[in-house]
Amino acid sequence: MPVKLPVLSLPKLSVSNKPASQTAINKLDHIIVVIADSVKPKLWKDLPYGSALKQMYEKADKKNPALALSSHLPNRGLTGVSLGVVQKNRSAFKNLTQMRHLCSNALAAKAENIGLFVLGFSHDTHKQLCEDLVAAAYAASFKLWHAKSKTNKSKIKSLALYQAPEGLDVNSIKAEAAGNNLARWLTALPPNVLNSRNYVELTEALAKRKRWQFRFHSIMDLKKLGAEAFLAVAQGNPHEDAGIVHLSYTPSGRSPDEPADLALVGKGICFDTGGTNLKPANYMLGMQGDMGGSATALGSLYALSQLKSDLRIDCWLAITENHIDAHAYKPNDVVTASNGTSIEVIHSDAEGRMALADTLAMCSKTKPKLILDYATLTGAAVYSVTTRYSCVFTNRPQLHNLLVEHGAKTGERVWPFPQDEDYDTNLESKVADTLQCSTKPGGDHILAARFLNKFVDNRCAWVHMDLSASENEGGLAHIPSKQTGFGVRYTTRLIEQSDIMNRLK
Ligand code: BES
Ligand code: ZN
Ligand code: ZN
Repeated sequence: MPVKLPVLSLPKLSVSNKPASQTAINKLDHIIVVIADSVKPKLWKDLPYGSALKQMYEKADKKNPALALSSHLPNRGLTGVSLGVVQKNRSAFKNLTQMRHLCSNALAAKAENIGLFVLGFSHDTHKQLCEDLVAAAYAASFKLWHAKSKTNKSKIKSLALYQAPEGLDVNSIKAEAAGNNLARWLTALPPNVLNSRNYVELTEALAKRKRWQFRFHSIMDLKKLGAEAFLAVAQGNPHEDAGIVHLSYTPSGRSPDEPADLALVGKGICFDTGGTNLKPANYMLGMQGDMGGSATALGSLYALSQLKSDLRIDCWLAITENHIDAHAYKPNDVVTASNGTSIEVIHSDAEGRMALADTLAMCSKTKPKLILDYATLTGAAVYSVTTRYSCVFTNRPQLHNLLVEHGAKTGERVWPFPQDEDYDTNLESKVADTLQCSTKPGGDHILAARFLNKFVDNRCAWVHMDLSASENEGGLAHIPSKQTGFGVRYTTRLIEQSDIMNRLK
């Protein structure tokens, strides 16, 4: 059964630079108040229900404020209140986390029409916190796929932001939220719903809707290209429906035939059983999320295309499943990828790097200026930074500072790992150009990135993100679900708001 695209429209947001009237507040089921840890007394006088809110505020411990306090207003409808005190100079991550708690408070109170107030800050902080709060409210309002016959959860219908600052960038928040929601929705789908066939069809339907060019390299095409690394993984799937999706976004005034400025590449393993080297039960559970990298690439393309980016952007998705099967690939198989590099297979569970090898090689041939790839590639990445951070690797180490600082700024935190050439001695094979992975434990996230590097043209700047934070129990930063869609916000802002593209010139 094919899957229908999710509804990506967001709840209505009204933005006013004026304060709310008492009558306007009375019509809301809930207000979220984000307030500085020290405010002028005048603030309360000018605020409807100021004395009730002041009482609540005074109870808060300003040195160690709770992320969210709950109460209600003394009006007829007992409008709910979630109040959060924000200390100065806190990290973006902490601010976003607080916004998540405030929004989940409002949702727990079944609020449908919510007022948003950010009070007592300087202009820049005010703007930042308004953006964070709206982003969190959009994330909270989105419902992931489920097959429950009964649900009683409410849904946010409208958001109203009062006293909004000048220059609030609502468009970016909307685009990122929709891209993130898409990524999370895909990642949460069960593996029998989002199998390779359905995933490819979904991307085709999305491409049609967004007017992206859609190309599909089927198993047959990949055989002709000699993409044996990808095919090795796909050969365990009795349905020949795996393949590499190639989407292209071309801004107006540019030619679709120009090389892309940016290529987004993603690992799309719809389910990772481990293959011949079968995963034990508790490691296999949840492996429908192993397409999270492709979801991040697609969500980022979606957001950048919503923002009408002036870059030519390609998106390459390596879509397959890693099955157990009599025909499945196995240790000691030797295959040759489409760039001529031969690989000795060591472990069928290291399938992500195999599928990405050919995808990166094909992408590299088109000579984009910058390649960003995303993959839930290694358990080693999770061991090294847990699921709170993702790991980054690049063939342009001068970008390390920018990458880390950008993570701290956006609240999607990343940490870099080395990519020195001598690591390749750990991947030496007696019979092929390279081992797929080392036979010894240790540093597999670093070696996996070194392996991928063999399929990237060094003339292209390349950043690989091992998405350890693709899933984090209980949510992460402003995102309330286990599936975090990590990377969409990071990427959209990296491309639209940082100077990375200029640095590569
Ligand atoms: N998809 C997994 C890695 C993974 C597991 C990421 C759990 C996030 C959460 C990947 O395909 C895998 O199984 N890697 C192996 C590689 C090893 C056999 C060299 C691993 O990390 O154990
Ligand atoms: Zn695996
Ligand atoms: Zn995997």
